Amino acid sequence: MMMITKIIVSLLFVGQALAQVVIDDRTFSVPNFPCMKCHSEIKTSTPTFPLPKPHEDLKFKHMEDVKNCKLCHDQNDRDKLRLINEKKISFNDSHLLCIQCHGEKGPDFRSGAHGKQVGSWEGVKHRYTCVECHNPHAPKFPQWKADPPPIHPNRKTGAKH
Ligand code: HEC
Ligand code: HEC
Ligand code: HEC
Ligand code: HEC
Repeated sequence: MMMITKIIVSLLFVGQALAQVVIDDRTFSVPNFPCMKCHSEIKTSTPTFPLPKPHEDLKFKHMEDVKNCKLCHDQNDRDKLRLINEKKISFNDSHLLCIQCHGEKGPDFRSGAHGKQVGSWEGVKHRYTCVECHNPHAPKFPQWKADPPPIHPNRKTGAKH
Protein backbone atom coordinates (compact mmCIF):
# COMPACT_ATOMS: atom_id res chain seq x y z
CA MET A 1 0.00 0.00 0.00
CA MET A 2 2.78 2.41 0.97
CA MET A 3 4.56 1.52 -2.26
CA ILE A 4 1.54 2.39 -4.39
CA THR A 5 1.01 5.73 -2.68
CA LYS A 6 4.61 6.68 -3.27
CA ILE A 7 4.43 5.86 -6.93
CA ILE A 8 1.32 7.99 -7.40
CA VAL A 9 2.90 10.87 -5.55
CA SER A 10 6.05 10.84 -7.61
CA LEU A 11 4.07 10.54 -10.84
CA LEU A 12 2.08 13.61 -9.87
CA PHE A 13 5.26 15.52 -9.23
CA VAL A 14 6.73 14.57 -12.58
CA GLY A 15 3.52 15.27 -14.50
CA GLN A 16 2.73 18.52 -12.78
CA ALA A 17 6.15 19.95 -12.15
CA LEU A 18 5.16 23.06 -14.08
CA ALA A 19 1.46 23.24 -13.32
CA GLN A 20 1.47 23.68 -9.56
CA VAL A 21 -2.23 24.36 -9.28
CA VAL A 22 -4.51 21.64 -10.52
CA ILE A 23 -8.21 21.52 -11.28
CA ASP A 24 -9.80 18.08 -11.00
CA ASP A 25 -11.02 16.31 -14.10
CA ARG A 26 -14.71 17.25 -14.33
CA THR A 27 -15.63 14.56 -16.81
CA PHE A 28 -15.77 12.05 -13.97
CA SER A 29 -18.26 14.13 -12.01
CA VAL A 30 -20.50 15.76 -14.63
CA PRO A 31 -23.80 13.84 -14.65
CA ASN A 32 -24.72 12.22 -17.97
CA PHE A 33 -21.19 12.45 -19.37
CA PRO A 34 -20.30 11.39 -22.05
CA CYS A 35 -23.12 13.28 -23.72
CA MET A 36 -22.50 11.82 -27.16
CA LYS A 37 -23.69 8.45 -25.91
CA CYS A 38 -27.17 9.84 -26.72
CA HIS A 39 -26.47 13.00 -28.66
CA SER A 40 -24.77 11.31 -31.58
CA GLU A 41 -28.34 10.19 -32.39
CA ILE A 42 -30.26 13.31 -31.31
CA LYS A 43 -30.26 16.02 -33.93
CA THR A 44 -32.45 18.69 -32.37
CA SER A 45 -30.99 22.05 -31.53
CA THR A 46 -33.84 24.08 -30.09
CA PRO A 47 -34.77 22.74 -26.69
CA THR A 48 -38.41 22.33 -25.76
CA PHE A 49 -39.37 22.88 -22.14
CA PRO A 50 -39.91 21.08 -19.89
CA LEU A 51 -36.87 19.11 -20.97
CA PRO A 52 -37.32 15.35 -21.20
CA LYS A 53 -35.27 12.74 -19.38
CA PRO A 54 -32.44 12.70 -18.44
CA HIS A 55 -32.55 16.51 -18.20
CA GLU A 56 -35.90 16.95 -16.49
CA ASP A 57 -34.40 18.29 -13.25
CA LEU A 58 -32.24 21.03 -14.73
CA LYS A 59 -33.13 24.55 -13.54
CA PHE A 60 -32.31 27.63 -15.57
CA LYS A 61 -31.92 30.90 -13.72
CA HIS A 62 -28.86 32.83 -14.77
CA MET A 63 -28.53 35.57 -17.37
CA GLU A 64 -31.42 36.23 -19.77
CA ASP A 65 -29.99 34.01 -22.47
CA VAL A 66 -29.45 30.96 -20.29
CA LYS A 67 -31.98 28.81 -22.13
CA ASN A 68 -29.96 29.28 -25.29
CA CYS A 69 -27.91 26.13 -24.69
CA LYS A 70 -25.57 26.73 -27.59
CA LEU A 71 -24.26 29.86 -25.91
CA CYS A 72 -22.11 27.47 -23.87
CA HIS A 73 -22.55 23.94 -25.28
CA ASP A 74 -21.15 22.98 -28.64
CA GLN A 75 -24.05 22.19 -30.91
CA ASN A 76 -22.51 19.23 -32.72
CA ASP A 77 -20.08 17.93 -30.16
CA ARG A 78 -22.00 17.82 -26.91
CA ASP A 79 -18.95 16.50 -25.08
CA LYS A 80 -17.45 19.97 -25.45
CA LEU A 81 -18.27 23.45 -24.26
CA ARG A 82 -17.96 26.40 -26.62
CA LEU A 83 -16.71 29.94 -26.12
CA ILE A 84 -18.41 32.94 -27.72
CA ASN A 85 -15.54 33.09 -30.26
CA GLU A 86 -16.59 29.50 -31.23
CA LYS A 87 -13.52 27.86 -29.74
CA LYS A 88 -14.37 24.42 -28.39
CA ILE A 89 -13.13 23.73 -24.87
CA SER A 90 -13.20 20.76 -22.54
CA PHE A 91 -15.57 20.56 -19.57
CA ASN A 92 -12.36 20.82 -17.51
CA ASP A 93 -11.85 24.40 -18.70
CA SER A 94 -15.35 25.70 -17.96
CA HIS A 95 -13.92 28.64 -15.97
CA LEU A 96 -12.88 30.12 -19.34
CA LEU A 97 -16.56 30.15 -20.25
CA CYS A 98 -17.51 32.01 -17.09
CA ILE A 99 -14.81 34.67 -17.21
CA GLN A 100 -15.92 35.73 -20.70
CA CYS A 101 -18.68 37.63 -18.92
CA HIS A 102 -17.38 37.69 -15.36
CA GLY A 103 -14.02 39.11 -16.38
CA GLU A 104 -13.17 40.48 -12.98
CA LYS A 105 -13.35 36.97 -11.53
CA GLY A 106 -10.49 35.74 -13.77
CA PRO A 107 -7.60 37.43 -11.97
CA ASP A 108 -9.32 36.91 -8.60
CA PHE A 109 -9.69 33.23 -9.38
CA ARG A 110 -6.10 32.80 -10.53
CA SER A 111 -4.74 34.59 -7.48
CA GLY A 112 -7.00 32.60 -5.16
CA ALA A 113 -8.92 35.70 -3.99
CA HIS A 114 -12.23 34.33 -5.27
CA GLY A 115 -12.87 30.64 -4.85
CA LYS A 116 -10.90 28.15 -2.87
CA GLN A 117 -7.61 26.38 -3.07
CA VAL A 118 -6.57 23.50 -0.90
CA GLY A 119 -2.97 22.48 -0.55
CA SER A 120 -2.04 18.83 -0.68
CA TRP A 121 1.53 17.73 -1.27
CA GLU A 122 4.29 20.26 -1.21
CA GLY A 123 3.79 22.70 -4.06
CA VAL A 124 0.74 21.01 -5.57
CA LYS A 125 -2.58 22.67 -4.86
CA HIS A 126 -6.07 21.71 -5.81
CA ARG A 127 -8.20 24.59 -7.02
CA TYR A 128 -11.97 24.43 -6.97
CA THR A 129 -13.32 25.52 -10.29
CA CYS A 130 -16.35 27.83 -10.68
CA VAL A 131 -18.87 25.04 -11.24
CA GLU A 132 -17.81 23.15 -8.14
CA CYS A 133 -19.47 25.99 -6.22
CA HIS A 134 -21.88 27.54 -8.72
CA ASN A 135 -24.41 25.62 -10.77
CA PRO A 136 -23.71 27.00 -14.28
CA HIS A 137 -27.42 27.08 -15.09
CA ALA A 138 -28.54 28.63 -11.81
CA PRO A 139 -25.41 30.01 -10.16
CA LYS A 140 -26.89 32.01 -7.34
CA PHE A 141 -27.02 29.29 -4.76
CA PRO A 142 -23.78 27.53 -3.97
CA GLN A 143 -24.09 23.82 -4.61
CA TRP A 144 -22.92 22.83 -1.18
CA LYS A 145 -25.38 22.22 1.61
CA ALA A 146 -24.76 23.53 5.10
CA ASP A 147 -24.40 21.01 7.90
CA PRO A 148 -27.52 20.78 10.09
CA PRO A 149 -27.26 22.83 13.29
CA PRO A 150 -25.96 20.91 16.30
CA ILE A 151 -28.78 19.38 18.34
CA HIS A 152 -29.03 20.70 21.86
CA PRO A 153 -28.83 17.74 24.24
CA ASN A 154 -31.96 18.84 26.15
CA ARG A 155 -34.08 19.50 23.10
CA LYS A 156 -36.23 16.82 21.54
CA THR A 157 -36.48 16.75 17.75
CA GLY A 158 -39.13 19.15 16.51
CA ALA A 159 -39.91 20.50 20.02
CA LYS A 160 -40.63 24.22 20.40
CA HIS A 161 -38.79 26.22 23.02
C1 HEC B 1 -29.49 9.37 -21.80
C2 HEC B 1 -29.43 10.19 -23.01
C3 HEC B 1 -28.81 11.58 -22.89
C4 HEC B 1 -27.58 11.92 -22.40
C5 HEC B 1 -26.51 11.00 -21.81
C6 HEC B 1 -27.46 13.34 -22.57
N1 HEC B 1 -28.59 13.85 -23.16
FE1 HEC B 1 -28.93 15.80 -23.64
N2 HEC B 1 -30.79 15.33 -24.33
C7 HEC B 1 -31.33 14.06 -24.35
C8 HEC B 1 -32.68 14.13 -24.89
C9 HEC B 1 -33.63 12.96 -25.09
C10 HEC B 1 -32.92 15.49 -25.19
C11 HEC B 1 -34.18 16.10 -25.83
C12 HEC B 1 -34.03 16.11 -27.32
C13 HEC B 1 -35.23 16.73 -27.99
O1 HEC B 1 -35.63 17.82 -27.59
O2 HEC B 1 -35.72 16.11 -28.93
C14 HEC B 1 -31.71 16.22 -24.83
C15 HEC B 1 -31.57 17.59 -24.98
C16 HEC B 1 -30.41 18.28 -24.71
C17 HEC B 1 -30.18 19.68 -25.00
C18 HEC B 1 -31.21 20.65 -25.58
C19 HEC B 1 -30.95 20.97 -27.05
C20 HEC B 1 -31.10 19.78 -27.95
O3 HEC B 1 -30.09 19.42 -28.59
O4 HEC B 1 -32.19 19.20 -28.04
C21 HEC B 1 -28.89 19.99 -24.60
C22 HEC B 1 -28.17 21.31 -24.69
C23 HEC B 1 -28.33 18.77 -24.06
N3 HEC B 1 -29.27 17.77 -24.14
C24 HEC B 1 -27.05 18.69 -23.53
C25 HEC B 1 -26.49 17.54 -23.02
C26 HEC B 1 -25.18 17.49 -22.43
C27 HEC B 1 -24.22 18.67 -22.33
C28 HEC B 1 -24.98 16.19 -22.03
C29 HEC B 1 -23.77 15.61 -21.35
C30 HEC B 1 -23.25 16.29 -20.17
C31 HEC B 1 -26.18 15.44 -22.38
N4 HEC B 1 -27.06 16.29 -22.97
C32 HEC B 1 -26.34 14.07 -22.17
C33 HEC B 1 -30.70 12.90 -23.96
C34 HEC B 1 -29.45 12.81 -23.38
C1 HEC C 1 -23.64 29.77 -19.08
C2 HEC C 1 -23.27 28.63 -19.86
C3 HEC C 1 -24.27 27.51 -20.02
C4 HEC C 1 -25.51 27.55 -20.61
C5 HEC C 1 -26.21 28.73 -21.24
C6 HEC C 1 -26.02 26.20 -20.56
N1 HEC C 1 -25.12 25.37 -19.95
FE1 HEC C 1 -25.33 23.39 -19.57
N2 HEC C 1 -23.53 23.36 -18.59
C7 HEC C 1 -22.65 24.42 -18.54
C8 HEC C 1 -21.42 23.99 -17.87
C9 HEC C 1 -20.20 24.83 -17.61
C10 HEC C 1 -21.61 22.63 -17.54
C11 HEC C 1 -20.63 21.70 -16.82
C12 HEC C 1 -20.80 21.80 -15.31
C13 HEC C 1 -19.86 20.95 -14.51
O1 HEC C 1 -18.68 20.81 -14.86
O2 HEC C 1 -20.31 20.44 -13.49
C14 HEC C 1 -22.94 22.27 -18.01
C15 HEC C 1 -23.50 21.01 -17.86
C16 HEC C 1 -24.67 20.60 -18.48
C17 HEC C 1 -25.20 19.26 -18.44
C18 HEC C 1 -24.58 18.09 -17.69
C19 HEC C 1 -24.94 18.16 -16.22
C20 HEC C 1 -26.23 17.47 -15.86
O3 HEC C 1 -26.75 17.78 -14.76
O4 HEC C 1 -26.73 16.62 -16.60
C21 HEC C 1 -26.35 19.26 -19.16
C22 HEC C 1 -27.26 18.09 -19.42
C23 HEC C 1 -26.56 20.60 -19.65
N3 HEC C 1 -25.52 21.39 -19.21
C24 HEC C 1 -27.62 21.00 -20.43
C25 HEC C 1 -27.90 22.31 -20.80
C26 HEC C 1 -29.10 22.72 -21.51
C27 HEC C 1 -30.20 21.77 -21.95
C28 HEC C 1 -28.99 24.07 -21.71
C29 HEC C 1 -29.99 25.00 -22.39
C30 HEC C 1 -31.40 24.87 -22.04
C31 HEC C 1 -27.74 24.51 -21.10
N4 HEC C 1 -27.11 23.41 -20.55
C32 HEC C 1 -27.27 25.81 -21.05
C33 HEC C 1 -22.87 25.68 -19.01
C34 HEC C 1 -24.02 26.13 -19.61
C1 HEC D 1 -22.83 35.25 -21.62
C2 HEC D 1 -22.45 35.86 -20.36
C3 HEC D 1 -22.33 34.98 -19.12
C4 HEC D 1 -21.66 33.79 -18.98
C5 HEC D 1 -20.94 32.98 -20.06
C6 HEC D 1 -21.75 33.44 -17.58
N1 HEC D 1 -22.47 34.37 -16.90
FE1 HEC D 1 -22.87 34.39 -14.90
N2 HEC D 1 -24.05 36.03 -15.14
C7 HEC D 1 -24.20 36.74 -16.32
C8 HEC D 1 -25.11 37.85 -16.10
C9 HEC D 1 -25.56 38.87 -17.14
C10 HEC D 1 -25.49 37.78 -14.73
C11 HEC D 1 -26.46 38.68 -13.98
C12 HEC D 1 -27.81 38.03 -14.08
C13 HEC D 1 -28.90 38.76 -13.35
O1 HEC D 1 -28.61 39.48 -12.40
O2 HEC D 1 -30.05 38.52 -13.74
C14 HEC D 1 -24.79 36.65 -14.15
C15 HEC D 1 -24.85 36.26 -12.83
C16 HEC D 1 -24.01 35.31 -12.23
C17 HEC D 1 -23.91 35.06 -10.82
C18 HEC D 1 -24.65 35.80 -9.72
C19 HEC D 1 -26.02 35.21 -9.55
C20 HEC D 1 -26.86 35.98 -8.57
O3 HEC D 1 -28.06 36.06 -8.85
O4 HEC D 1 -26.34 36.47 -7.57
C21 HEC D 1 -23.01 34.05 -10.65
C22 HEC D 1 -22.58 33.44 -9.33
C23 HEC D 1 -22.57 33.66 -11.97
N3 HEC D 1 -23.21 34.44 -12.91
C24 HEC D 1 -21.68 32.65 -12.21
C25 HEC D 1 -21.34 32.20 -13.48
C26 HEC D 1 -20.56 31.01 -13.74
C27 HEC D 1 -20.02 30.08 -12.68
C28 HEC D 1 -20.42 30.90 -15.09
C29 HEC D 1 -19.73 29.81 -15.88
C30 HEC D 1 -20.29 28.48 -15.77
C31 HEC D 1 -21.10 32.04 -15.68
N4 HEC D 1 -21.65 32.78 -14.67
C32 HEC D 1 -21.16 32.31 -17.04
C33 HEC D 1 -23.60 36.48 -17.52
C34 HEC D 1 -22.84 35.34 -17.80
C1 HEC E 1 -15.09 27.82 -3.44
C2 HEC E 1 -16.34 28.22 -4.03
C3 HEC E 1 -16.35 29.21 -5.16
C4 HEC E 1 -15.65 29.15 -6.32
C5 HEC E 1 -14.61 28.14 -6.76
C6 HEC E 1 -16.11 30.27 -7.12
N1 HEC E 1 -17.07 30.98 -6.44
FE1 HEC E 1 -18.10 32.60 -7.12
N2 HEC E 1 -19.00 32.82 -5.30
C7 HEC E 1 -18.87 31.93 -4.26
C8 HEC E 1 -19.69 32.40 -3.15
C9 HEC E 1 -19.84 31.71 -1.80
C10 HEC E 1 -20.30 33.60 -3.57
C11 HEC E 1 -21.26 34.50 -2.79
C12 HEC E 1 -22.60 33.83 -2.65
C13 HEC E 1 -23.44 33.83 -3.90
O1 HEC E 1 -23.73 34.90 -4.47
O2 HEC E 1 -23.85 32.73 -4.34
C14 HEC E 1 -19.85 33.83 -4.95
C15 HEC E 1 -20.25 34.90 -5.73
C16 HEC E 1 -20.01 34.99 -7.11
C17 HEC E 1 -20.61 35.99 -8.00
C18 HEC E 1 -21.65 37.05 -7.63
C19 HEC E 1 -21.19 38.06 -6.67
C20 HEC E 1 -19.96 38.80 -7.07
O3 HEC E 1 -18.98 38.80 -6.28
O4 HEC E 1 -19.92 39.37 -8.18
C21 HEC E 1 -20.11 35.73 -9.25
C22 HEC E 1 -20.43 36.49 -10.53
C23 HEC E 1 -19.20 34.59 -9.14
N3 HEC E 1 -19.17 34.18 -7.83
C24 HEC E 1 -18.52 34.03 -10.20
C25 HEC E 1 -17.55 33.04 -10.08
C26 HEC E 1 -16.70 32.60 -11.16
C27 HEC E 1 -16.75 33.12 -12.59
C28 HEC E 1 -15.87 31.64 -10.65
C29 HEC E 1 -14.73 30.90 -11.34
C30 HEC E 1 -13.75 31.74 -12.05
C31 HEC E 1 -16.23 31.45 -9.25
N4 HEC E 1 -17.23 32.34 -8.95
C32 HEC E 1 -15.65 30.54 -8.38
C33 HEC E 1 -18.12 30.78 -4.25
C34 HEC E 1 -17.24 30.36 -5.23
